[in-house]
Amino acid sequence: MTTSAPLQATAPAGLAEDGSIELRGVRRTYGDVTAVDDLDLTVNPGEFVTLLGPSGSGKTTTMMMVAGFEDLTSGTVLINGRPVDTLPPKDRNLGIVFQSYALFPHMSARENVEFPLRMRRVRPTERRRRAEEALDRVGLTKLGDRRPRELSGGQQQRVALARALVFNPSALLLDEPMAALDKRLREQMQEEIKTIQRSLGISVLFVTHDQDEAMSMSDRIVVMRDGRIVQQGPPEDVYTHPVNDWVANFLGDTNLLPCSVVERNGDAAVVDLGALGTGRVRDLGARGERYAVSIRPEHLAFLPEGRPENSATGRLVSSTNLGATIRHRVHAGGQDLLLRELSAGRRTSRATGDDVCIGWNQDEAQLLVLDS
Ligand SMILES: Nc1ncnc2c1ncn2[C@@H]1O[C@H](COP(=O)(O)OP(=O)(O)O)[C@@H](O)[C@H]1O
Ligand SMILES: [Mg+2]
Repeated sequence: MTTSAPLQATAPAGLAEDGSIELRGVRRTYGDVTAVDDLDLTVNPGEFVTLLGPSGSGKTTTMMMVAGFEDLTSGTVLINGRPVDTLPPKDRNLGIVFQSYALFPHMSARENVEFPLRMRRVRPTERRRRAEEALDRVGLTKLGDRRPRELSGGQQQRVALARALVFNPSALLLDEPMAALDKRLREQMQEEIKTIQRSLGISVLFVTHDQDEAMSMSDRIVVMRDGRIVQQGPPEDVYTHPVNDWVANFLGDTNLLPCSVVERNGDAAVVDLGALGTGRVRDLGARGERYAVSIRPEHLAFLPEGRPENSATGRLVSSTNLGATIRHRVHAGGQDLLLRELSAGRRTSRATGDDVCIGWNQDEAQLLVLDS
């Protein structure tokens, strides 16, 4: 597909397709349930944006509205900068891999991939050529004759991806495409999807409830809860600087140190951590009733000795070797803190019960609002 001229079968001639997707004030209610609430979201050309949230947070409903399978209660969706609210799904030129959009079981892999081209009235020889190219791109060159049930789960997902790519869509919508695969295969597919996305430069709106998947694939993560966006940003930012304890916990293990705010200036704050002393931490400016500092376990480190700020003394409660990393539990200031360090090269002289000193960097400690 890299070598073939793009065939924009559905795009009106003369209008540029930059692959952008924009949601403006999008809402969807089902009776009393508000599935999606006043969503504003943009996927820029070539960007990989992931909706990350627990089950029921409105991810699929959002995707269905972008694809055109669900009506909006209010708001507007734009694709390539143009409103598409009156366009049926087939005219939106989006490549789709949804659970609800399975392969046709009675068709071979090749026929499945050719299907979108058949709908677009592409000639049989051209259709065949492009289906082969798409199958080749997902590594299924030799399996085109098989029916879906003769393929593994991972191979079926590759066929679905080839079917989504074969007509040169403006953008890709992928809703939990790897949900049914085991961990190793998932990771392999994640890398393949990223490679394909980069080489095509195509915009992707991706859905997952798996924070590792979101972290490893996205240019930007949009964290959703109860039909709303709680926070969005590059993966490292959202991970290291969550706005509240719900986001902090949803994205992985974290230490939450309850605190009171002594002073705020710009993006830094001085906090009183009670028995853990004072800290100087990052501040996103979130306001609430109760505050804490969030520090990821890998952002805590053992120190040779204490410091006036951003450090604490405590007792080593346990050390567990997890293979690649060691997880330590340190009791300090009346609570247990998790500290994670790489196993490689560690010859620790610390033993359970020892007094230890731990510390953190200002940039990796985030002031946040206790929300839950
Ligand atoms: N067709 C429907 N009828 C009624 N409620 C629905 C329908 N589709 C989704 N919902 C509700 O909308 C909310 C969001 O669902 P969904 O978008 O599927 O979330 P997610 O994909 O994040 O798990 C849930 O509370 C769900 O029960
Ligand atoms: Mg869903």
